[in-house]
Parts: sequence; C-alpha cells; structure tokens
Amino acid sequence: MILGIWDGHDAGAAIIDGKEIKVAVNEERLTRRKLDVGFPKESIKCCLEYLGLKPSDVTDVAACTSDFSKTITRVFPSMKDKYYLLRRRKVYPKFAQNQKNFKYKLTEIGPSYLTRKVSKRFLRKGLNRLGFRNYKMKIIDHHMAHAAGAGFCSGFDKALVLTVDGVGDGLSGSVNIFDKGRIDRISSISAKHSPGIFFEHVTNLMGMRELEDEGKVMALSDFAYKIPDNKNPMLNFFEVKGMNIKAKYSSVRMWKELRKILWKSPPEQFAWMAQETMKKKLVELFRNSLDETGLRDVAWSGGVASNIKANMEIRHLPEVKKWFVFPHMGDGGLALGAALQMNFEKNGTWEYKFDNVYFGPEYSKEEMENELKDNPKIRYEYDKNIEKRVADLISGGKIVFLYQGRMEFGPRALGNRSILASASSVESKNDLNLKIKKRVWYQPFCPSILEEDCKNIFRDCDCIERFMTMGFMVREEFREKMTSVTNVDGSARPQMVTTENDRYRKILESVKKKTELGAVLNTSLNLHGYPIVNTPKDVLDVMIRTRNPYMAMGNYFVELVE
Ligand SMILES: [Fe+2]
Repeated sequence: MILGIWDGHDAGAAIIDGKEIKVAVNEERLTRRKLDVGFPKESIKCCLEYLGLKPSDVTDVAACTSDFSKTITRVFPSMKDKYYLLRRRKVYPKFAQNQKNFKYKLTEIGPSYLTRKVSKRFLRKGLNRLGFRNYKMKIIDHHMAHAAGAGFCSGFDKALVLTVDGVGDGLSGSVNIFDKGRIDRISSISAKHSPGIFFEHVTNLMGMRELEDEGKVMALSDFAYKIPDNKNPMLNFFEVKGMNIKAKYSSVRMWKELRKILWKSPPEQFAWMAQETMKKKLVELFRNSLDETGLRDVAWSGGVASNIKANMEIRHLPEVKKWFVFPHMGDGGLALGAALQMNFEKNGTWEYKFDNVYFGPEYSKEEMENELKDNPKIRYEYDKNIEKRVADLISGGKIVFLYQGRMEFGPRALGNRSILASASSVESKNDLNLKIKKRVWYQPFCPSILEEDCKNIFRDCDCIERFMTMGFMVREEFREKMTSVTNVDGSARPQMVTTENDRYRKILESVKKKTELGAVLNTSLNLHGYPIVNTPKDVLDVMIRTRNPYMAMGNYFVELVE
C-alpha cells in the first residue's frame, strides 16, 4: 500500500495497492479552493476514509519535488499561498518591483542533498500531525513523477516518454525511455529554457491567469489569420537541439520581448504566434526523440501536454504508432505519478489497467437522499429509467446536470460530475454559457460520443480516447450536427465512451435513438471560478444558484421548484 502526496499547485493524494490505483483526489475538490496549494491533508484523509484505513496502515509514502523554492514553501507555508497568488497574478507584487525576476531565479534552482533533507523533515511533520507513524518516505523527482504517470498508465511495454511543463526540480522537461516500468532519462530541458513558462508569459500578457487560462490562449489562436514563419518573431525564441530545447532569452527578458510583440499585434494574432511556436518546437523535439531512440509508441505528460492542438499535430507524425497523454497531465497528477514510481522501485509493479479515471470519492443513495429531502427548493423522484429521461431532455434542448458515482480524477468531467446539453443546438450552448459556465465566447465545449460512432464522425480516428486529451478532425457532414462542440477549425476534443460508464453510455444510446447521433455536449459541473463539485450538497448548491431546472443524481430525477 503506497500513499502518494503532492503539496504544491493543485495538491492531492493517491493510494495504490498492488496493481490497482485505489483512490486519487485533489485538495481543491474538498476545500473548494480552486487549484489549492496547501498540504493535502483533506485529500489524504479522504483517501484513507474511502478505503477504511487508518494512517498507521500506511507503510510507504511517495512525495514529490524537493527543489529550492518548493523546500522554502514547506518551511514557511504562508509563502506558498503568496507565491502562487503572485504567480497566477491574483495579487499585485507590492513588496518587490523586481518580483518577477526574483520568482524565476528562485524556481530555477534545482534540488540538492540539503533541500531534500529539509523537505523530508517538513513533509514528515505534516504527515505526523495526521497520525502517521513508522512509514518509509521517498521524494520522487518532479519530472520523474510526470513521466511515471504517463509511462505506467499508457499500457505500453516500451515507449518514448516526454514531459514538458513550467518548472519543477530545476527542469522544464525530460525525454525518457520507458521499458517495462524502468524509466531512463536520456535528456533534460533546463528550467532556464522553459516552453511552459513561455506560454505562461503569453497568458499573463493577454490579461489572463497563468497556470489556469492557457487553454483560452490556444482557443483564441483559432481566430487569427495565418502568417508565414519568417513573420513570426516568436519562432526564434527557442532552438531545438537534438532532444533538448534552448531559449534565446532568460525568463524575464522573454516576457519583455513578448510584450514588445504584443504592442504590435492584435490579441488573436499574438495567441496564434505563441501557439504556432509551441506546436512547431514540440513537433521538432518529439521528432528528434523518435529518430534518436527508434521508438514508435509515445506517452507524455506535464502541463504543456494539455495543449491539444500540439498533441494532434504530434499524434499525426508518421513516426508515431501509438499515442497516450496522461489525463491529469499538470501538477495535480503528481501524487499518483510519485506513488506509481515508488511502487515500481519497491515492488517492481508496472502493469496497470487504466481504462477510467473514476478514482475519487462517491456518495451512497442514502447520502444523496438525505441531501434532497426537506429541501423546499426542489422536488425529486426515483426513476428506474432515468437515462431515457435525461436523453429526452437533452434532445429537447434542455441542459441537464449528471451527478453519479465516483468523482473524476483530473481536470475533465467524464460523465460523473458533468453538465450535458445537445451537441447540435447553438441555443443550448449559448444558454449554458450565459447562465452557468460564463466562458469567453471563443472557448469551445467538448463532446462525449459513443466510441463506435467516432470512426464515422472523425476523419482521423486512429485510437480510443477516453479522457478528452486529444483533438480530432470532424468530417464536414457532421459539423452541422455537432455545431455546439466543433471548433472553428473543424476539430473537436471528444470523450469516447466505451463500457466504463454504464449510465452515461445508456444516456448516449438513448440520445442516438432520437437524433441518430450518439453525442452530447459535456462540460464540467461547477460554478464559474470554482472546482468541480464533489458532494451531493455541492451539486445541489450549484443547481439552486444557477437555477438550472434539471438534474439526474444517481437514479433520482431532481427538478427545481419554480
Ligand atoms: Fe510540473
């Protein structure tokens, strides 16, 4: 039994036993603070409680990252909040004009014997406070934990594993060979040359939140006109040398250079140049790594792996045979990655069945009913055929909340904490945006589709993608029928639904009977700016606050009383 913990941006915990990922959850879902950075005490408690364990039952703990800045925040936890608030531009850096410089210099310092020792001491303090005793602890390297998530969950025996992110343990990326659990690092990208920080800068300069809104930059880039490479000044910012990336400027200088470009460019053009740069440099890095290693199956992780447009490009390289993106690619997935790595080092375990990410807590029928009863704002009834009822409402243009089973691990709702609407109705999409999600106009929604329909719908359907991590091109004839979930460039980021979620599948099958297309719009069930709901109380609160009239909570059909 191994407990993995991560106590930074999007903190969390996970427990693995043998070949099974038993439970995994992020702190934000429990504290209701988005991307919570605190010590993951609620996540640890939640994991133990779910399995009916006591802290003393845990014999091994895998933590992650021991670079200088992470260690400092462990010694002075109040700095952590401040650091991330600053990093995500939620507070103005009053106390130091030169804060940006300071910040990047600090985060670029890698781990050492001393930082590892201090980190371990303070992590133990946090665990001991929760009642942990007599356990072995190991701190797994940041990029090793990212690589482990991708490698162990890919289902591949041998693969090329890449990680690219902002920064962690002095690095912003790594190239590795995964061979039956053994991960050998063959190249490291220094934190000083970080493609992730480059994209954070772009996000920041566009007035958006770093580490949160990078997807918006990518979405906006679709609306720019294309320019030739020699007119894109950002392409010179990085040089890919073999399996490494070198930046032309320091992090701070890069920010200043980007600001100059922004002055002369409309925002969508600025976003496009950045996206194009990211895509081209990653393609080069992957291509060189594929050539160098001769490997054809690829897995990848790290925050930059959330860039689905770059993913689509890389997946289409003729050199790539099989392709896997770890669904919780950002730092929120580190607790699980660290646990997977420790499980291999200790027990040699490397084969996992990874066909779903329903790793979070779930609530019983009684707990649901306790929340529903005596609430004057709703009425509810038990419905054996709730799937058909939900499908009828969606097909009729209504928005329906779907709450059931174990919460998803990772940023995507995959049918257990989801808001569903018609894939073909622009009105439903606009309604959803106006009343509930409050997204910017250019940010697209994604579909969930019956797996067997995907080959028909997509031009380039070459794999089963259950986790919404890849873009596929929608065939012309389906774009009209899927107008609310197809991007302006004709791509969509689907969840392909196989047999892992019985109720969700039945809903899609019922939708198909009515509309001939087993597809719905699926977006995460949360209030704008808040994490995805966890408990029945959370979801009822969102229903009442957004005044959305319909919800399926397990088999309970819940309606708002006018
Ligand atoms: Fe990371």
